[in-house]
Amino acid sequence: MRVVRLFVVGLGAVGQGLMRLLKKKREQYARELGLRVELVGVADSRGVWTGEDLDPEEVLRVKSEHGTVAEVGEEVEAVQAMEDVEFDVLVELTPTDIETGEPGLSHIMKAIELGRHVVTANKGPLAVAYGEIMRAAEENGVMIRYEATAGGAMPVFNLVRETLKSVDVLSIEGVLNGTVNYVLTRMESEGISLDDAIADAQSRGIAEADPSMDIEGWDTACKIVILANSILDVPCTIDDVDVTGIEDITPEAIRIANERGYRIKLVGRADRDGNLVVRPCLVPKSDPIARVRGVMNVVRLETDVAGTIYVSGRGAGPLETASAVMSDIISIAERASREG
Ligand SMILES: NC(=O)c1ccc[n+]([C@@H]2O[C@H](COP(=O)([O-])OP(=O)(O)OC[C@H]3O[C@@H](n4cnc5c(N)ncnc54)[C@H](OP(=O)(O)O)[C@@H]3O)[C@@H](O)[C@H]2O)c1
Repeated sequence: MRVVRLFVVGLGAVGQGLMRLLKKKREQYARELGLRVELVGVADSRGVWTGEDLDPEEVLRVKSEHGTVAEVGEEVEAVQAMEDVEFDVLVELTPTDIETGEPGLSHIMKAIELGRHVVTANKGPLAVAYGEIMRAAEENGVMIRYEATAGGAMPVFNLVRETLKSVDVLSIEGVLNGTVNYVLTRMESEGISLDDAIADAQSRGIAEADPSMDIEGWDTACKIVILANSILDVPCTIDDVDVTGIEDITPEAIRIANERGYRIKLVGRADRDGNLVVRPCLVPKSDPIARVRGVMNVVRLETDVAGTIYVSGRGAGPLETASAVMSDIISIAERASREG
């Protein structure tokens, strides 16, 4: 039986989603994949809990009862604790910071320096330092996987890496932010203002208390940067993206577009010439990009020999995102064991 030992940093929505997923499916992974997933460290903003094989259910209980795993572990920083723990994969699930990439960037660079593989759902480090991270990973012979960073459970990176090996992707465009798409969908279906649609999204737990990263287009821009670097081989950072959000979109504009056969969508686009744009677009209603409603995401890949490929799925949600994180962990474990 192969074993993969995880050090999970970040126990918020996605980190706890991963604990729930492990609780539900760990036995199945052992039985069907011959892979035993062990938790050897978990961390939140206040501390770290390490052990030989922590029980995910117990981690959830401690986090919910005490608010922090430091209560049963230690009040140390994750970067420090990583040095003393034997693990195979760092699972980095701290909040996104698109200006510094921190604290995720330091966690990721530390794991690479220690020769450990990395799986992350955190867009920040990759949006500000994709090239630096990949160079360090190559020098240290470790794998970095980040399926959940663009589109949650919607598979894009792994689809291209594993299934589209014989083709070149020429351009990528799509709806990559579920909150914005939900807001635009509500504005269209109810005729309500942007502020009212945002308030509605907040009351349903879809939009954050400060939704500006989504509404101003920066979250979509991060995803475009990661997609462009990873799939189009365009070296870029968040500073290279031309970003316009949906702040100025009115119900009237949506109504007029609708009457003329269009929907307004916040579309992110990248091509091989390095054009990187996020902006509200008029999309014909017959286009699959216009058809995604509510929190759903969609991506269109234009390829050289395989034509046009669409992928659609849930762009967020704790369990959905954790499922993409887990797929990355499994693929790293499988590849590491093949390479021996
Ligand atoms: N939620 C989604 O559906 C979704 C989808 C795709 C991608 N993502 C990305 O996945 C990441 C995690 O998202 P989330 O929704 O789980 O975020 P979250 O609920 O805000 O949780 C973040 C976690 O990181 C911990 N943390 C903060 N600073 C830390 C530090 N210096 N050291 C160790 N832990 C630290 C927090 O600790 P405390 O618990 O002590 O506060 C918390 O447990 C983000 O980068 C997000 O953009 C999320």
